[in-house]
Amino acid sequence: MSRRIALITGITGQDGSYLAEMLLSKGYAVHGLIRRSSTFSTTRIDHLYQDPHEPDARLRLHYGDLADGSRITTLLEQIQPDEVYHLAAQSHVRVSFDEPEFTGTTTGLGTTRLLEAIRMTGLPCRFYQASSSEMYGITAPPQSETTPFHPRSPYACAKVYAYWITRNYREAYGIHAVNGILFNHESPRRGETFVTRKIARAAARIARGEQQYLHLGNLEARRDWGYAPEYVDAMWRMLQTDTPDDYVVATGTSYSVRDFLTFCFAHVGLDWERHVRFDERYLRPSEVPDLVGDASKAERDLGWKPAVLTPELARIMTDAELAEVPGARTPAAAPAPQPQV
Ligand code: NAP
Ligand code: GDD
Repeated sequence: MSRRIALITGITGQDGSYLAEMLLSKGYAVHGLIRRSSTFSTTRIDHLYQDPHEPDARLRLHYGDLADGSRITTLLEQIQPDEVYHLAAQSHVRVSFDEPEFTGTTTGLGTTRLLEAIRMTGLPCRFYQASSSEMYGITAPPQSETTPFHPRSPYACAKVYAYWITRNYREAYGIHAVNGILFNHESPRRGETFVTRKIARAAARIARGEQQYLHLGNLEARRDWGYAPEYVDAMWRMLQTDTPDDYVVATGTSYSVRDFLTFCFAHVGLDWERHVRFDERYLRPSEVPDLVGDASKAERDLGWKPAVLTPELARIMTDAELAEVPGARTPAAAPAPQPQV
């Protein structure tokens, strides 16, 4: 059987890095879209580096941006992927209130640019859209594939648009396109401004005496936090089904930001109430109070089930922060992966 080819947008992000790892381990040739910046943004995939001059290198990176539809079309023609995992987005909810237009053009219209490129090239590839539990907003939990959306941020509005354009291209053009409606998933590779990483990092730093206080916003919000490496497996499973469909991926459990603080700080022997301070800058103009996913359809159709629940996730993330040696930068074992230009 010929080697399968995957294209991942957002390969430098948390999920993209775990997905690239998993697909390489399954024997895929993996192509990643990365944006050019004046500094390297590839730290999460540096360990996957393969010299692109080697003819059998299975990881290749290409410059491109979600705002640039013609580049995306050219790349699809060139790469001829069997599977496209569209993960790239302006993914921060709070930031989307500051940059609503940019969020719309990347997180929303970026999906249309990819789908339109697939339609125009006529490639028979399968397409995964990174949809989000944020789309449910203030709809009461538990949320499933049949729960109505009520988005509460420019980010969530853009994701609702992207969700529907994915379904539209499936219905209108028969493209094998699926929505994975993933609830929050975290890991030691989570971006540092998301609340779980912020808490785990602060717990370790405070325990080491490097920091005294942690400033946070709303502690009452409840989330269904799972473990990112398990969630990329669900993405892959969705693209292996014969009939494209949409799936919720979640643990089915609910914890507050306050609970997450307790797990991380207790793990390092501290009382969080002595270290956490309120900062209104971290509040959102409209909040999403309570997300809990019902992933029974994914379990039934895909055989997917989470193993790591939030308390263990908090320990994994805090331990990873404790293992960080302050001030030390690990020398790169290999040159940072960059596209060939
Ligand atoms: P992330 O760590 O923020 O990664 C986002 C990725 O998108 C990065 O590789 C980023 O590149 C890339 N990107 C952003 N703007 C771009 C642009 N204009 N052109 C090209 N690439 C661009 O996000 P994540 O947590 O891995 O999430 C992956 C996807 O799943 C996102 O679409 C997110 O909205 C969605 N999602 C995430 C969760 C979650 O809990 N993690 C839940 C549901 C849905 P740089 O490295 O250059 O910034
Ligand atoms: N980021 C952040 N920083 N959040 C805080 C803070 C803080 O200092 N203090 C309290 N929070 C609360 C937020 O108000 C929110 O209710 C909750 O913590 C989680 O915030 P984030 O970790 O930023 O994640 P999110 O739920 O808004 O969005 C993430 O999950 C979505 C899936 O539901 C992102 O990964 C999105 O891309 C993803 O779609």
